[in-house]
Amino acid sequence: MKYKITVVGAGYVGMSVAVLLAQHNEVVLLDVDKERIGLVNSNKSTVRDVDIERFLDDKNLHISATDDAVFAYKNASFVIVATPTNYDPETTKFDTSLVDSVCKDAISNNAEALIIIKSTLPIGHTAYLQELLGTKRVIFSPEFLREGKSLHDNLYPSRIIIGGHCDLAVTFSGLLSQGSELDNPAILFMDPTEAEAVKLFANTYLAMRVAFFNELDSFTLSNGLDAESIIKGVSLDPRIGPGYNNPSFGYGGYCLPKDTKQLVASFSSIPQHLISAIVASNDTRITFIADEILKDKPKCVGIYRLVMKAGSDNFRSSAVEFVIQRLLSSNVKVIVYEPDLNNKEFLACKVINNFEDFESQADVIVANRKTSEIEKLGNKVFSRDIFGNN
Ligand SMILES: NC(=O)c1ccc[n+]([C@@H]2O[C@H](COP(=O)([O-])OP(=O)(O)OC[C@H]3O[C@@H](n4cnc5c(N)ncnc54)[C@H](O)[C@@H]3O)[C@@H](O)[C@H]2O)c1
Repeated sequence: MKYKITVVGAGYVGMSVAVLLAQHNEVVLLDVDKERIGLVNSNKSTVRDVDIERFLDDKNLHISATDDAVFAYKNASFVIVATPTNYDPETTKFDTSLVDSVCKDAISNNAEALIIIKSTLPIGHTAYLQELLGTKRVIFSPEFLREGKSLHDNLYPSRIIIGGHCDLAVTFSGLLSQGSELDNPAILFMDPTEAEAVKLFANTYLAMRVAFFNELDSFTLSNGLDAESIIKGVSLDPRIGPGYNNPSFGYGGYCLPKDTKQLVASFSSIPQHLISAIVASNDTRITFIADEILKDKPKCVGIYRLVMKAGSDNFRSSAVEFVIQRLLSSNVKVIVYEPDLNNKEFLACKVINNFEDFESQADVIVANRKTSEIEKLGNKVFSRDIFGNN
């Protein structure tokens, strides 16, 4: 056992990083959610992720959870912050208050630990916190994981980025590398502001790619063209490349919608068109999809799954949610099939989790991503999923 590491926030990011590091260190997860604390202490994951579940079952991990901040911070060498930074539509920026208060708390409870923020931040925020708290002990390390593959993406990191240069920052990069399955993962050191920019520009690039192939798909649908042939033909150019080119109803999930909007805010008075256009393009796509569904004048639209991606258990800011809102504003009846939802209603639409009942009541089944369950329904399904991947 090497270090005591405290991870604040036992969600997708916190759970993945905690499991990764608990292979060789003692990890304490600090959360305010008693149910999540109970799950971790019963050796269960707080999020759906096959690799996390497998590691908890098969490996000898040193991991526990608590809501006792004093205990969690005591003797920790590293504190990792993985609490939410939700987008605030009023300020048009991230609400960083949870991260700010966790950093203050960690500093006042522990005089030596390095605080590593993994929550996504506005560009320049770590430098602001360093100034506010009077210490360089707070650094930033962006997290690039995908929900549902969160541990996988830390076991095989595309890169490890450390926004800080102190000795403990170097040690921390070694711990991430040690937990991974790669011999020599790419590790880049930079200032925290540059590291924050890497995260927002990377996610905005991904959103741009989704928006691009979705607009291509809108074009093909409007002109009766075969989207699959065109996308394959376009993507075979090695400068464009395969992957991440499967049309959808829009980008969604917890990160891309809020990170793109935060980047628009970060540009502030700097001239730009593209970044704002990505956000606008996604809204246009959602309206386009709703209008396509309405063309056949269905009496009852069945929404098959609210999750963004196959294998995910999360429907935060899912694109289909905004499609539902558009459909409802056109006074069409909408029903929802979502086995991961226990509620009777979603956005005032009836949730029917018996698939046969759901299917028989709907005139059209709308699916952002197809599964074998609906494949057999043929033309009754409206989907733009061409390649069957995320
Ligand atoms: N989800 C992703 O795919 C992903 C990927 C990269 C980066 N991020 C960023 O990481 C951050 C966390 O995202 P997430 O998806 O893991 O969030 P999450 O909602 O899954 O988990 C956040 C956890 O923090 C806990 N929490 C809230 N307030 C707390 C407090 N004051 N003290 C202790 N715990 C508290 C919550 O109970 C919850 O368990 C966000 O900034 C997000 O943008 C997320």
